[in-house]
Amino acid sequence: MKKNKLIIFSYAIPLFIISRKIYKLLKRESERNKLKDSVVIITGASEGIGKELAIEFAKQGSKIVLASRSIDKLQKVENQLKEKYVNCEAISVPTDVSRKEDCINLIETTLEKFNKIDILINNAGIVTYDYFYNTSDEEIKKIMDVNYWGVIHCTKAVLPYMMKNKKGRIVNISSFVGKRAMPGMLAYSSSKFAIQAIGEGLRAELRKYGIKVTTICPTATKTELLSNALSKRVKFSQNIGMSANRVAKETINAMLENKREHIIGIPEKIFLFTNNFFASFYDFVLSFAPKFMLKD
Ligand SMILES: NC(=O)c1ccc[n+]([C@@H]2O[C@H](COP(=O)([O-])OP(=O)(O)OC[C@H]3O[C@@H](n4cnc5c(N)ncnc54)[C@H](OP(=O)(O)O)[C@@H]3O)[C@@H](O)[C@H]2O)c1
Repeated sequence: MKKNKLIIFSYAIPLFIISRKIYKLLKRESERNKLKDSVVIITGASEGIGKELAIEFAKQGSKIVLASRSIDKLQKVENQLKEKYVNCEAISVPTDVSRKEDCINLIETTLEKFNKIDILINNAGIVTYDYFYNTSDEEIKKIMDVNYWGVIHCTKAVLPYMMKNKKGRIVNISSFVGKRAMPGMLAYSSSKFAIQAIGEGLRAELRKYGIKVTTICPTATKTELLSNALSKRVKFSQNIGMSANRVAKETINAMLENKREHIIGIPEKIFLFTNNFFASFYDFVLSFAPKFMLKD
């Protein structure tokens, strides 16, 4: 009898896990159909992860609003989308997310053009790399102005519209280092920790309005982030890590599954889990990172 129970139990758990996975997959794919004709705003869309997100949304038939500071680069992306995906509707809105008035203009321009907003992706971001004691107040402020205040400005500008309509999705691109502070990246890390908090709290606050909030934590990704860094002391340009296209695809999947948070990569998940037990050991190992990353 005891043996029978054990056998049933050992089948029941994997069966439950597999059915849950299948259910999630089916739900995600039915949600994907809704992306057709949805209006998506992507900040930081002129290159890197933002550009890949624009391509992935265009494949689904979404209408895309590309935002960043460089209008030339945005228009290039816009033209590429229109050439590759027939009937693709996209516009470029020059926006500096650290300026509240630009973010308000971004939301107003989108509503004027498309009459609705379904998804806001807060992706624009900048980095600096140096020891904290070498990082100037101006640099820290600049990082916060873009990575933290940029998210606040765009989110606050879109919320009245989404709350009135009782629907919408907000996706914040945070970082692995928004979960675990990284020596040499403290200005950047702290800006990402701050948006982790915004994402987590906002998701609960906006539940009653039917607005879904997802936070994405990628690790090193092959983009121009490091070569665009404020500090020019970094030895490497960013040619290591995962592809920006993988980050874009996983971001859309996590959003469609309505995940609260998605850490990209299995080793990264294991690192963060074990960090709960071995934080001091990781402190020791990571203390060598700036020496490896910085020019003398
Ligand atoms: N690459 C990585 O390893 C990595 C890892 C984890 C998380 N992330 C996050 O992923 C996001 C995208 O980064 P990425 O790797 O794709 O970097 P990227 O290639 O350097 O692209 C950054 C984008 O942000 C825009 N941007 C910068 N400052 C802006 C501002 N003030 N206002 C509006 N747009 C601005 C840039 O366009 P303009 O210059 O035209 O304004 C560009 O389109 C960032 O939030 C970053 O923190 C990246």
